[in-house]
Amino acid sequence: MKHLIAGLVASIAYAAHANPVWITVGDDAAIVGQKSFSSVEKMGSKDGISILKVDSSKLPELGGLIHETFKRCSGYIVHESEQEAHEAIANSQDRAAAKSLTFADYSINQQDTVNALIAQVSHANIAETVRKLSSFHNRFYKAQTGVQSQQWLKEKWESLAQGRSDVKVEFFQHSSWPQPSLVMTIAGAQGDGGETIVIGGHADSISGMFGGANSRAPGADDNASGIATITEIIRVLMQNSYAPEKTLKFMGYAAEEVGLLGSKEIAQKFKRDQVNVVGALQLDMTNFKGSDQDIVLMSDYTNQAQNGFLGKLIDTYLKLKWGQDQCGYACSDHASWHQAGYPASIPFEARMREMNNQIHTSNDTIARSGDNAEHAAKFAKLGLSFLVELDR
Ligand code: BES
Ligand code: ZN
Repeated sequence: MKHLIAGLVASIAYAAHANPVWITVGDDAAIVGQKSFSSVEKMGSKDGISILKVDSSKLPELGGLIHETFKRCSGYIVHESEQEAHEAIANSQDRAAAKSLTFADYSINQQDTVNALIAQVSHANIAETVRKLSSFHNRFYKAQTGVQSQQWLKEKWESLAQGRSDVKVEFFQHSSWPQPSLVMTIAGAQGDGGETIVIGGHADSISGMFGGANSRAPGADDNASGIATITEIIRVLMQNSYAPEKTLKFMGYAAEEVGLLGSKEIAQKFKRDQVNVVGALQLDMTNFKGSDQDIVLMSDYTNQAQNGFLGKLIDTYLKLKWGQDQCGYACSDHASWHQAGYPASIPFEARMREMNNQIHTSNDTIARSGDNAEHAAKFAKLGLSFLVELDR
């Protein structure tokens, strides 16, 4: 939501003052733009997409011209700096691949294992973790309580992993703010360099338009619910001494609420290190049942084939109503994985328009979800079936 408001403010600013902006457009449209406006300058191009430096006052006319010439919607993206435009075209191939390629075998053939595990999911455990996490004054990325809540979560995950020498629980430190991300790794039989499956959610919370280290931000649904769902997935795996083929990684990202900052650093590091992530699942807001559908798969910034796999898993194991919707923008950490070229999905609590409207306020408590975590339990079952079926 913040993002949308920032966009709006930016467009008003563009309209009021003539100043340079950088747009990315198809090469064909770039040629037409350069011919028609002497002030339009081409700053670079890659894979059929060009960067044009344009006076913002010329944007409406240019958009109209592209629409007229190519019979498609104006088709450009505005960037606030030249550097941002270069970054956008540098990974355009990654994003296209992340959306449409198939990264794994999505056959479903682990019925016995999956059914045995999902029967053990306890919504009471999830509710208990949600209550504990929302009892921190906030989990803001710059607040001491945002560091303490991560310390608590680390100890919780360590206690679940007790006695497992193949499991590590580590902080991922960020240089620009105090809150660390948390990463649990269960080493797979395939070993280092093998395939990796990621399940994550953001561990931070925020309240009010400008956040603040002192604001009360229980963040029960956004996103203690996702972290508690992941914690229950870990508990069930550990309880059953599950030993994976692939490496499993569970993540509690720092600083999502201020621009996906924690997950961006992690996904970019994985890309640099060429880690072979075959599936990334984001759990952000799992405990408010606002819609007729139990689970809504966001179709943007996600991988289509993996979303289809999740639909099949819901039909096979949960037998619940599900649907699809769009965020319309990079609304959560799945977008960081998507942008890095990895297949990502986000199964969400409701349709976009029917989600919990108390998030980012001091009223985001478990009371809004009937004081229980029955809705979130469905997502723990989905996460378990996703892991086991992708792993084998
Ligand atoms: N939990 C929300 C993400 C969300 C919102 C998912 C609506 C699906 C539907 C997340 O924590 C959030 O608040 N995201 C920000 C954007 C982010 C880039 C700062 C938002 O939606 O404003
Ligand atoms: Zn949020």
